[in-house]
Parts: sequence; structure tokens; C-alpha cells
Amino acid sequence: MTQRKGLILAGGTGSRLFPITKGISKQLMPIYDKPMIYYPLSVLMLSDIREIGVITTPEDAAQFRGLLGDGSQWGVKLTYLEQPKPEGLAQAYLVGEDFLDGHPSAMVLGDNIFFGHGLPELLKAANVRDAGGTVFGYHVADPERYGVVGMDAQGRVTEIIEKPENPPSSYAITGLYFLDETAPNRARSIKPSPRGELEITSLLETYLTDGKLTVERMGRGFAWLDTGTHGSLLDAGNFVRTLQSRQGMQTGCPEEIAYLQGWISADNLRAQAAHYAKNDYGSYLEGLLED
Ligand code: G1P
Repeated sequence: MTQRKGLILAGGTGSRLFPITKGISKQLMPIYDKPMIYYPLSVLMLSDIREIGVITTPEDAAQFRGLLGDGSQWGVKLTYLEQPKPEGLAQAYLVGEDFLDGHPSAMVLGDNIFFGHGLPELLKAANVRDAGGTVFGYHVADPERYGVVGMDAQGRVTEIIEKPENPPSSYAITGLYFLDETAPNRARSIKPSPRGELEITSLLETYLTDGKLTVERMGRGFAWLDTGTHGSLLDAGNFVRTLQSRQGMQTGCPEEIAYLQGWISADNLRAQAAHYAKNDYGSYLEGLLED
């Protein structure tokens, strides 16, 4: 199988949450102690993906470049791709087509946070499944905010509906999509929805129709958080703080993942820890060298 490449979709300055805050990207705001985008980036790294395209608006590109650089500090290769206007998640596959260059992909939304025991295994399993697509269904209290899975009596997925008024189930599709190399072609074949977007759910429907979509259940032992409302943004920060303070371990820490994967050396990690002076994040990185 050809190596899977990653995409992080981080378009839309200000977003719905801060529409008058021009020039500040939501995905660069902190979730507790690190920029939001570190969390989805970590998900791709845990999936063993090292070539990653970061999709932003043209205005925001410089901010992301400034923070993340070329990725070599974490043993990954970052390429910056521009989406002139955010016209739906499926558009990412058109923007990313040249970068993907016939490779399968894993796309993660820049504001989605995943945590759970066994997450690396789940991700690695999806990475090596080469034909078709794999997405994750997660039980939520408010499915109408998401793409939702409809199932038959045997639990087989029959449909995926974007933001349904009457959700057919409580299983939302998370913002993490492992798709084969046919995704850009399929994205070209779908039509914009009534809200004028190339919906990711329309793209997934094409895989479903072809019998090529695996919907993996992400069980209750996982946390999937998004930051689409002011409350959920704060909740995500509190969640990370609670977990990290209790365990004394980081979640969403690219330096740690790179070091444990053997992608960067101890000297490299030491140098990066020094950038944080003596704050808790820097002390944590130094502690990894002693373990
Ligand atoms: C998007 C997708 C939806 C998915 C969600 C996950 O929603 O369209 O299918 O469940 O991300 O965060 P949006 O961010 O456009 O509300």
C-alpha cells in the first residue's frame, strides 16, 4: 500500500465563535496549555502519518507557518495548502489533490480533540486498511449538530445525514476521515448542499453506496470533543486540564509523540523543552528525558 498522507482542515478565521475577531485563527487558540491544532496534529502522528498538508485560508496561512514551521522539529513534513473560501469539508480533497498525489489520506478537522485508551491502536488499524473509507461513529447528546449515521435492525449503516432535524440515531460521525485515493475524484462528483457546501457526508455517501465504507464505533471509553460553541471550547480546556493534572501525562503533545515514535532524538527534545523555559509544559518535556 502507498503511504497514507494527512490533511488538517483549519480554515475559517474567527469562525462562528468569534466572527468579529478578524485575524485570529480559532485553531491557534489554546485548549488549556497548547494550541488547539496540536491535538488533531497529534492524532495524525499517532496514526503513523508523517506527511501532512495543513489547509488554511490564504489570510491565515502565515500564522500557521509561524507556529508549526516545516514540522521537522517533530519529525514530520508539513505542507501548507490554501482554501480561498471555506465551501465545505469535502472541498479539502480538491484543495489537497496535488499534495495527495494519488495517496490515500486521513483528514482531521483542526478543532476536533480525541482522547482514549487504545486510540493509537484504533488509528493504526484504520491507517493500514487500504481500500475504501473508515470513519468513526460516536454517541452524542446532540446529534442534530453533526453528520449522523442511520442503521438498520442489524446495526448496518444505511445512511449518513448532515445535521438532520430528526436524527436517525445518536451516533455522530467524528471529524476524522480515513479515505482511499479515490476521494478527490469522488469529491468532484458531488453537488453542493442546500447550505451551499460540498458536504463530507455526501462524499461518504458515495463510499457507502459502493459498499466501501467502514463505520467504526468509538465507544464510551473515548472522549471526542469539538469546540464549535463557547461552552464546548471551555469544556475541552477543562477536560484536558483535569486529565493532565490527575495523570501527570500530556495529551496532544507532538514533542512527546515524536520522541516516543523515535522520530526525534533526545537532544532535539531537550532543545525544544528549553523553549518553554520553566513552565509546566517545558518541565514535562524535560521529564520525558529522565524516564
Ligand atoms: C462537520 C461535518 C459533520 C461532522 C462534524 C464533526 O460539521 O459536516 O458531518 O459530524 O464536522 O465535527 P460542521 O463543522 O460543518 O458543523
